[in-house]
Amino acid sequence: MLLLLRKEDQVSSSGGKNIDYDKLITQFGCQTVDKSLLDRVQRLTGRPLPVFLRRGVFFAHRDFNKILDIYERGEKFFLYTGRGPSSESLHLGHLVPFMLTKYLQDAFDVPLVIQLSDDEKYLRDKNLSMEECERLGRENAKDIIACGFDGVSLTRTDPENKIRTLALCSAFYKNISRFSKRVTRNKADSIFGFTGEDNMRKQSYPAVQAVASFSNTFPRQFLGDDHLHCLIPCAIDQDPYFRMTRDVAPRIGYRKPALIESSFFPALQGEHRKMSASDPNSAIYFTDSAKVIKNKINQYAFSGGQESLQQHRKLGANLDVDIPVKYLNFFLEDDAELEHIKRNMARDIC
Ligand code: TRP
Repeated sequence: MLLLLRKEDQVSSSGGKNIDYDKLITQFGCQTVDKSLLDRVQRLTGRPLPVFLRRGVFFAHRDFNKILDIYERGEKFFLYTGRGPSSESLHLGHLVPFMLTKYLQDAFDVPLVIQLSDDEKYLRDKNLSMEECERLGRENAKDIIACGFDGVSLTRTDPENKIRTLALCSAFYKNISRFSKRVTRNKADSIFGFTGEDNMRKQSYPAVQAVASFSNTFPRQFLGDDHLHCLIPCAIDQDPYFRMTRDVAPRIGYRKPALIESSFFPALQGEHRKMSASDPNSAIYFTDSAKVIKNKINQYAFSGGQESLQQHRKLGANLDVDIPVKYLNFFLEDDAELEHIKRNMARDIC
């Protein structure tokens, strides 16, 4: 199986097979989020673990344990995450890193940077104008703010805007230049799959995403805390950006950001596809009404039901592939209720 770990809208495994998450850990050097790490989080924060940690949605990390060391020593760090505005509204899959970020911000009481990469979307999509990407960014900001963050600082990354807010932007721009100088075009091509046909600014975008993990990119917000440690909650498809960031950071005298990374949120059609903002029937959006959600689940959600009624009575639903159960696994807080639902479905009494 060939694993596509590039920043594409439709990250999937070739041949429609499931994504091999273990391979990500062994090949790309992430660490596993294991029980001892989770016990430590619970002990340090004195709070119950959120669903996403309890049920293994965030399965991989890089140096998260070091962030816990820092916290234990009473030192500061900050959180950084982001969103490339490619649709009017966020879908449930996008919510996953933001919900973990919300928990982390509450539990560790730390500042947060959220990058709205409207420039990334503008550069990647031939059909989107700069104005439309900005508008989508503003719309998406509403969904993000609705997650209830504390004192969120929304940084926008388009160059024009940087010129208007000079103090912020000259630091941002300097870090982009420092960073980009250390990455050859060959290297960027091999990480992100760029070709000679891609526009030149698209090739330089990853540096914009990378440098937001350095606190001196935001001198106004971090006021002299130039080398704060950074923790990035994100989905696993963002790993290439930050593998590159961690490679370059020490070479420019900066700290490597730590990461905590989630598996993909499956599309309604099944586990082998990621929920995609560009395919409305694969996704449930923040803006969908309860009625629309119900329809989408009934019409499109891949069911673990067996092929014939007879077989279904005999075997019950196959919970390994059933999408509604997978969604409950992400969002239903109550462990006992989830177990009850699963047991009933497996025995066909739902
Ligand atoms: N590249 C991300 C996307 O396409 C957006 C993003 C920018 C991001 N900076 C980030 C995501 C930092 C996670 C962490 O949606």
